[in-house]
Amino acid sequence: MRLAGAIFTNVTKMLDFYSQFNPSPLSIKQFIDFGLNACEKKSYLFLRKELPVRLANIMKEIALLPENLLRMPSVGLVNQWYERSFEEITEFEKMEPEPPVLTEFCERLVHIRNRHADVVQTMAQGVLELKESHEVDTGTENSIQYFLDRFYMSRISIRMLINQHTLLFSEQLGARQASVNGIGIGGRHIGSIDPACDVVAVVKDAYENARFLCDRYYLASPELEILQCGVPSERPMSVVYVPSHLYHMLFELFKNAMRAVMEHHEDNPPPIQVNLVQGREDISVKMSDRGGGIPRSVTDLLFKYMYSTAPQPSKSDSHTVPLAGYGYGLPISRLYARYFHGDLVLMSCEGHGTDAVIYLKALSNEANEFLPIFNKTSSKFYRPVAQLADWSGPVNTAAQSKNKEKVSPLSAHTPVSHSL
Ligand SMILES: Nc1ncnc2c1ncn2[C@@H]1O[C@H](COP(=O)(O)OP(=O)(O)O)[C@@H](O)[C@H]1O
Ligand SMILES: [Mg+2]
Repeated sequence: MRLAGAIFTNVTKMLDFYSQFNPSPLSIKQFIDFGLNACEKKSYLFLRKELPVRLANIMKEIALLPENLLRMPSVGLVNQWYERSFEEITEFEKMEPEPPVLTEFCERLVHIRNRHADVVQTMAQGVLELKESHEVDTGTENSIQYFLDRFYMSRISIRMLINQHTLLFSEQLGARQASVNGIGIGGRHIGSIDPACDVVAVVKDAYENARFLCDRYYLASPELEILQCGVPSERPMSVVYVPSHLYHMLFELFKNAMRAVMEHHEDNPPPIQVNLVQGREDISVKMSDRGGGIPRSVTDLLFKYMYSTAPQPSKSDSHTVPLAGYGYGLPISRLYARYFHGDLVLMSCEGHGTDAVIYLKALSNEANEFLPIFNKTSSKFYRPVAQLADWSGPVNTAAQSKNKEKVSPLSAHTPVSHSL
């Protein structure tokens, strides 16, 4: 018992220690320079501090979540995974970068990546459990939304660091050899980054895979038209980026666009257009569908976790990939876009269709990681205060002015921005 207590206080102390540091964001250019020039020792020395810093920053925020959410079994499980991984990495704190230690570190990272494979679904399950068992007020809902954006962003960044290190240095993967020979990941790749990522190829790949799901569900699917600066073209266009991130965003947008088009048109579904534009600062990938659009009254909800107009896929279908239904497609895709200081926005005309634009930074030295920092400002968002609406709502505002002290259901229009 005493030993367990001692370990516990030690971990708590370490968490306090590492959470005092801000994460160090890297740009895509730095990732590339590091991948080309740095040795395994240097990467090890960087990660054995940076990973605990990023883990500790987000673990401090997990601890601030509403009590009733923390009590949900799935959230408890996620918490345990983080604690375990934090301990396993901090064990390297004082180990010199000798070859056996470096090998062990690589293996540990692979192990941690596997342990955290189901974090998104498990955390989502926890939130669902809370919503099913308790009435969730607007304040709590805003805190959860604020947390999930930061939590999933932190996870994306930690996985990026682990992937870079293991792809470059892991012996099982043949390390740099694998990149040179083009095994698995293409020859020009630096870890998971492609310095000449072929955007048209990624668009086509995402389209084909979404189309496969669409055909299975609707027995038909819309065609794809690729334009460049508004003119039909399939010229190659390249960007320095992580192809798997771009693929993730496009796949989600295609699934949404296809579902909307198929629901809106019984036969002859109109094509989905993808327009690629290379600017000096931004690369824009705009996907336009004629799927009937989205009413303005729900546009605020689109990036909320759990918001979906599709029926939730049943558990018995868990072996098949659903086209829609979890409501995680848009919020997670936007995190991928924002991770390197890009963005994802939706513009819709109800009755016609939707444009979704992915913005990426055109210059790799401007594509900096966008990371959550734990401090007094972020802690504040976990103490929900009852928000009184400071603008009148679209309907029945008279009741509101009579009842100034009561929390208005319109407080979704809070003056405080809770998005990233
Ligand atoms: N292109 C689109 N056209 C019409 N509605 C859309 C489009 N994209 C997203 N939506 C709406 O946004 C909701 C949330 O999308 P998403 O986050 O991908 O979750 P899901 O697809 O699982 O429902 C969808 O259920 C749908 O109602
Ligand atoms: Mg979707």
